[in-house]
Amino acid sequence: MEKQVFIMDHPLIQHKLTYLRDKTTGSKDFRQLVSEIAMLLCYEATRDLPLEETTVETPVALAKTKIISGRKLAFVPILRAGLGMVDGVLQMVPAAKVGHIGLYRDPKTLKPVEYYSKLPCDIEQRDVIVLDPMLATGGSSVDAITIIKRSNPKSIKFMCIIAAPEGIKAVTEAHPDIQLYCAAVDDHLNEHGYIVPGLGDAGDRIFGTL
Ligand code: PRP
Ligand code: URA
Repeated sequence: MEKQVFIMDHPLIQHKLTYLRDKTTGSKDFRQLVSEIAMLLCYEATRDLPLEETTVETPVALAKTKIISGRKLAFVPILRAGLGMVDGVLQMVPAAKVGHIGLYRDPKTLKPVEYYSKLPCDIEQRDVIVLDPMLATGGSSVDAITIIKRSNPKSIKFMCIIAAPEGIKAVTEAHPDIQLYCAAVDDHLNEHGYIVPGLGDAGDRIFGTL
């Protein structure tokens, strides 16, 4: 069976994650760290992009070299917290398009509530990478992926920073066809659906709405 879950434990990612988790890290640094970790995760999540041969004239000679082979990407952050990852991934793939899915977790039921959806009009021709720093119960990401699938993209990957085992189980069971990339898998969820030890509420820490 094809591998579905990739944990990117590169030293740079682990180092930045330590500061991200720290409750004394303020919004400015938190935003910067989310963006940098997203950039590093994107590097791994795009490792299988196909290449094609080309040639280019260097100042010295003709070089046989490679470029990415016509593959089109779309990033789809789950609002709000996923927005924090967009800058970082666009630095890696500036030509990608960006869609948005608006979901929030009802604090009582922990169920996702959809409030916005806007995807690139040519999404059928694109490989989609869904962005959300936190995969907790998995409700938001399972629903976001279901919504995106209705528009028939070529493929979907999911990228998060911290995942709970419960969220990984929910996504891989509901969507066995998608690959999931994360920087860390934490211990468990607490009674409020927060990842333990996690980093708290990612959206609030990114936007300073604590
Ligand atoms: C957070 C987070 C995920 C969701 C994860 O969003 O960014 O979208 O919770 O939880 P789940 O896996 O249990 O669904 P939140 O609902 O706090 O909204 P926000 O991004 O607007 O802060
Ligand atoms: N959403 C967050 O932002 N943090 C968690 O720990 C769980 C869901």
